[in-house]
Amino acid sequence: MEFMSDMSVEAYIARLAGMVERALDSAIPAEWDVPGKLREAMMYSLKAGGKRIRPALVLAAAEAVRGDESAAEAAMPAACAVELVHTYSLIHDDLPAMDDDDYRRGKPTNHKVFGEAMAILAGDALLTHAFHLIAAAGLAGRLPLDAALAIIADLARLAGASGMVGGQAADMLGEQGVTTLDGLRYIHLHKTSDLIVFSLTAGGRAGGAGAAQIDALAAFGTKIGLAFQIQDDILDVVGDEKLLGKKTNSDARQQKVTYPYLIGLDESRAEVERLTREAKEVLMEAGLRKPDLLLGIAEYLMSRDR
Ligand code: IPE
Ligand code: IPE
Ligand code: MG
Ligand code: MG
Ligand code: MG
Repeated sequence: MEFMSDMSVEAYIARLAGMVERALDSAIPAEWDVPGKLREAMMYSLKAGGKRIRPALVLAAAEAVRGDESAAEAAMPAACAVELVHTYSLIHDDLPAMDDDDYRRGKPTNHKVFGEAMAILAGDALLTHAFHLIAAAGLAGRLPLDAALAIIADLARLAGASGMVGGQAADMLGEQGVTTLDGLRYIHLHKTSDLIVFSLTAGGRAGGAGAAQIDALAAFGTKIGLAFQIQDDILDVVGDEKLLGKKTNSDARQQKVTYPYLIGLDESRAEVERLTREAKEVLMEAGLRKPDLLLGIAEYLMSRDR
């Protein structure tokens, strides 16, 4: 891959993640009158050091469509927005009523530090603010209004009842011994793929992608999203807690239905490889100016250890 000789995919993701980190620092306006504890709880999880894969995908998709970095500024509000929604989903996912986890991103979980009430509210506020970021960028002319509106509609659908929240609900309702492979597929598609699909299509929209390119980016996102969650489930069994920044065996403790549980580790690994290969094939047909960045990220995610 040509791009790999210029810069490793890890260095590319790190550069994008650095841009996102700086934008997140000022994502919640300093002049807004927010209770100190709430602001602190929001920033605690937001700045705890996630991999920033979703916002990196937003920026990379915009660059893939445009062929250069000229849409980075237009794409940044959606990049920050998806990281806000993702961070909220992690805070709520870790609550005692859900996965009951004590560590996240290498630190005690939000509710362990701020209490359950503030953790719930920090999640609520991060979710709400994501929509503000995109709308405000549209109103300020940093993002074309039609793109802003489409991105907002996508986020509402893909993060909501038929999207991420629907997937999380199905995950909570799932039962070992009862949930089928199709049921598990629904869970993974929605709790994880949908925000990854959002990331790719939002970046595409900010970069001015046509309808066929948006469809191809979504299909690519569905497949790498599924692979991403299967890899998450594999790492929950065989991963290193230090690298992951969260405790392993959470799924077994909560008797979750996962790919390793249903089809075993080897088959799960084969599925990650198959989905990644299919994702790359879909993307190569999309007529993007610079697809190699996204292809490199897909390849990198397949063998991630954190
Ligand atoms: C963890 O996501 C939750 C899943 C949907 C699998 P990440 O592995 O992207 O977590 P961070 O953002 O790096 O902490
Ligand atoms: C979480 O899936 C998905 C969302 C938060 C939407 P998991 O419950 O497997 O994520 P981890 O393993 O706690 O990061
Ligand atoms: Mg969960
Ligand atoms: Mg969890
Ligand atoms: Mg997990």
